[in-house]
Amino acid sequence: MKGVILAGGKGTRLLPLTSIVNKHLLPVGKYPMIMYGIERLRQAGVTEIMLIIGKQSAGLYTDLLGSGSRYGVELTYRIQEEAGGIAEALMLAKNFFKPREQLVVLLGDNLFTDDLLPVIQRFQKQPAGSARVLLKEVEDARRYGVPVFRSDNPHKIERIEEKPRHPQSSYCVTGIYLYDTSVFQLIQQVKPSARGELEITDVNNRYAADNRLEYDVLQGYWSDAGTFESLSEAGGHMVNRQI
Ligand code: DAU
Repeated sequence: MKGVILAGGKGTRLLPLTSIVNKHLLPVGKYPMIMYGIERLRQAGVTEIMLIIGKQSAGLYTDLLGSGSRYGVELTYRIQEEAGGIAEALMLAKNFFKPREQLVVLLGDNLFTDDLLPVIQRFQKQPAGSARVLLKEVEDARRYGVPVFRSDNPHKIERIEEKPRHPQSSYCVTGIYLYDTSVFQLIQQVKPSARGELEITDVNNRYAADNRLEYDVLQGYWSDAGTFESLSEAGGHMVNRQI
């Protein structure tokens, strides 16, 4: 299994910090944010990783991470020219995979402590052409993609609503996704949203509509560090973590 970490995007909610450096290089505890996702993948045995980065700060990523060998991983970099959405960024990783290979995708601003290995093992038992997402119970689900569970089978997701005004559950869909290469065909079928982005939620909803979307719930700490409040809260939480 190979990994993809998505670290493009504009980080506008963190301006002016993100006018000088890309969001995923900002400090969280003792380390730049991006290093936590790399560590979670390596710890689960996923050592071949593609990093999708924007043009901003591209040289700083190689200064920090180089080939990845210092951190026990093998990194390949690709540039996303514009912030065209999470699914657009993921599409750039298509040629990194052989047909029918499986992949674990992390959003670079998601910080978490759960072990990914059991999740990967459950995903490996799923049928080809299916997907798995990780959920977390949160206080304000309106900030996130929110799952609606099937009424006949709460173990399945019927659909995901992106940043709903009236969330139908108290869970959010975190930025941790497991797919096989079927995801690249599905991304090609998705149209840009009202904000002009290819949305990962639209891709996940295609799996859900076909009853091919399974999930786990994260038990440990999780945050997306996309706002000042969550960035500083995550920094406090992660400050004693060693990579
Ligand atoms: O963190 C979980 C949430 O992430 C999910 O609950 C939502 O369903 C999902 O849409 C996403 O929402 P955000 O509004 O937080 O996404 P954001 O635009 O902040 O992008 C998150 C990461 O995705 C960002 O840290 C880098 C990557 N990204 C984003 C865009 C728009 C890219 O690599 N390229 C992009 O063009």
